[in-house]
Amino acid sequence: MKRLITVLLTFLALSGSSARERVSFDKGWRFTLGDNINMAEVEYNDSQWRLLDLPHDWAIEGNFSADNPSGAGGGALPGGVGWYRKHFRVKDVCKYYLEFDGIYMNALVFVNGEVVDSRPYGYSSFVVDITRYLRCSDNVIAVRVDNSDQPNSRWYSGCGIYRHVWLTKTEYVHVKQWGLHVETDAKSGLVKVKAEVAGKGYTVQYSMTDAAGREVAKGTGTPANGNKAVLRVNPASVKLWSPDKPYIYKVRARVLEKGKVVDEVRTTTAFRDFRFDAKTGFWLNGKNMKLNGVCEHHDFGCLGAAVREDALHRKLKKLKAMGVNAIRSSHNPPAPELLNMCDTMGFIVMDESFDMWRRRKTQNDYARFFDKWHERDLVDMVLRDRNHPCILMWSIGNEVLEQWSSADADTLTLEQANLILNAGHDASTLAKDGEKSVNTMLAEHLANIIRRLDTSRPITAGCNEPSPNNHLFKGNALDIIGFNYHHQWIKDVPQNFPGRPFIMTESVSALQTNGYYRMPSDSVYIAPRDWRETYKDSTYMCSAYDNMHAPWSSTHEETWDVVKHTPYVGGQFIWTGFDYLGEPTPYGFPARSSYFGVIDLAGQPKDVYYMYESEWTNKPVLYLFPHWNWQEGQEVDMWCYYNQSDEVELFINGKSQGVRRKTARTGQPIDGSALNTPYHVGWRVKFEPGEVMVIARKGGKTTLHQRIHTAGAPDHIQLDIDYKGKELTFVQATVVDKKGNRCPLADNQLRFKATGGSVIATDNGCQTSMERFTSPWRKAFFGRCIAVVKGKGELTVSAEGLVSNKIRF
Ligand code: GAL
Repeated sequence: MKRLITVLLTFLALSGSSARERVSFDKGWRFTLGDNINMAEVEYNDSQWRLLDLPHDWAIEGNFSADNPSGAGGGALPGGVGWYRKHFRVKDVCKYYLEFDGIYMNALVFVNGEVVDSRPYGYSSFVVDITRYLRCSDNVIAVRVDNSDQPNSRWYSGCGIYRHVWLTKTEYVHVKQWGLHVETDAKSGLVKVKAEVAGKGYTVQYSMTDAAGREVAKGTGTPANGNKAVLRVNPASVKLWSPDKPYIYKVRARVLEKGKVVDEVRTTTAFRDFRFDAKTGFWLNGKNMKLNGVCEHHDFGCLGAAVREDALHRKLKKLKAMGVNAIRSSHNPPAPELLNMCDTMGFIVMDESFDMWRRRKTQNDYARFFDKWHERDLVDMVLRDRNHPCILMWSIGNEVLEQWSSADADTLTLEQANLILNAGHDASTLAKDGEKSVNTMLAEHLANIIRRLDTSRPITAGCNEPSPNNHLFKGNALDIIGFNYHHQWIKDVPQNFPGRPFIMTESVSALQTNGYYRMPSDSVYIAPRDWRETYKDSTYMCSAYDNMHAPWSSTHEETWDVVKHTPYVGGQFIWTGFDYLGEPTPYGFPARSSYFGVIDLAGQPKDVYYMYESEWTNKPVLYLFPHWNWQEGQEVDMWCYYNQSDEVELFINGKSQGVRRKTARTGQPIDGSALNTPYHVGWRVKFEPGEVMVIARKGGKTTLHQRIHTAGAPDHIQLDIDYKGKELTFVQATVVDKKGNRCPLADNQLRFKATGGSVIATDNGCQTSMERFTSPWRKAFFGRCIAVVKGKGELTVSAEGLVSNKIRF
């Protein structure tokens, strides 16, 4: 392989004049599916390959199939090997770094035909110093991505360079990657800063600015003191960060060499004072509060895993409106953009590293790389993320099989592993009293890697073995005891874990299809009733009343009741905020996406969203469901979530069906087998076409009301902007009757056409739809559908027999 200028570059760099430049490296890549090692060669002819911009996920473009090796658990979408190539020119002589935010998975990076780095873990960000491989002319980067060994994940991973890529150019003397570390102290206003710098003979000047850009503190560091400095912000002027008021500061580090600025980096920071208390739970800035959190996987439904800031922002906006104040990045380090948004939008984050350690959960998962890679992956996660004020805790793993001394993981299928993970193991596999097992030591080893780099946050793990003899609970790995599920065990926490803070790292796992209702609603459907059984139901749907859940889990109300009323529970992370691709428990193919979300895959809230809104926000809520299109005379359960009112009354065609008040709490477990609970009220009524109305009263005065009408035949399609981002717009299409009432059973085939922009994906939230996500047509599901359009233009929607409609985007 020819290399014209290589090592020389680094020495010549000293003469360069400009400081750091970090540019997006997303545009203009060539891509092909398939594999041939010659694709790495400089001369390889890639002119016929597809031209695209990153981030990119090739799996989402494919067809669903039972034959795809990812299985329904992985979203039933294709895997395989793909190559990306990018040609670029370098004019000057500097240090060059290529930064990959995430490649799923097994990335092999070549520069001008030479292997420069590899990274198996698909969720790690990594940086490659490519200086010595570059030529001062044309260069070719080639990246081989291998997601062919499947299954390797318990959910949809996506395939490809699915996060952003950056090219950074620096002088020879420069701040190393993730080299600026900032730690604030809210009480004293002191800010410890330190920059890791490559090179010699420099000083580092630090400056801290407030949200208005005013300098509030400064300081200087030199190599003699390890570039450390302490910036002093007047404690009286410190503005605190919280989910309600996410006040952000910035710290800049400038590296000077002979008085000239040779590098400059900035980071976001904030002041917040928090602690987890064994008796009283979570405290932020002196206020006792609950973590009202959700677990989130990384995909964006029909857009796949490719990072789209608009899709991410839409997700977070919907969660914020529901009252969510915390996110768990389950079960891997998230995209940097998620953390940036959580900093500025105000979400507390649990940053999680792994779903498995040495013992695998699926045939080809990260366990095969763990021994060699865990330290680098963990270090990179902490270095990359530790300045983010939103992160208040690290998690070293989720339901790792090392909780037990034997789990026979190597023989399990995905389904078996999932079931066993949630059903626990027998006592003989727990730690013996006084024993410090290898597994305990492994947990401590991982925690200590984090503590080497950050002591400002507690460490936890999502554990589904609640016994204090869980190997992970032994030793001093975990600062916070974290249970996944097992809410029945929470009463024993103070006695089992004296003096140790506690949160529900994962909870609920209720099952719901948006728009489908199973009655009687005061029966709880457990699917399957016993985890050893296979659950079968020809509808492939789950009930959207809060009355269906997996055997290891609960209704939403049941867990929330425990969390709300148990002071030592710091909070919970519901499984999950949004539905995600893969893991369609309790079904198998053709189900291919989850039922767990409070919001469906298309981003449409399910009914229980409003239960949380009524409990977690200060907004007045009155929400009646389900729809009002049933068989004449059919017995129907109407549920209502409300807050800030004394009572609610239901009317059918003007006739009162009675006043209801939420019941007082008895202290007995709430399992959903009642029409009225402390969280919702219900009426069992006979359907007659017309209007159903609920009114809420406070002090005898009507405060809110809601009407639902029986919809007539589908007539036209209503279009509304669901979310408008910088690049993408999400348009909600609703099939309605002549009067504009949603037709709640409509399944018309809708066709979307954009002029001036493009339709890039469609979805309707249906877990079994086999329509390609990239297709511009989709059936309405319970009357609704979402189209994602790019650019600016006009979107037309049409369907046979319905009046079409248009909307500008
Ligand atoms: C948990 C697991 C999650 C998900 C969930 C489904 O045990 O941590 O990843 O599988 O169950 O209920």
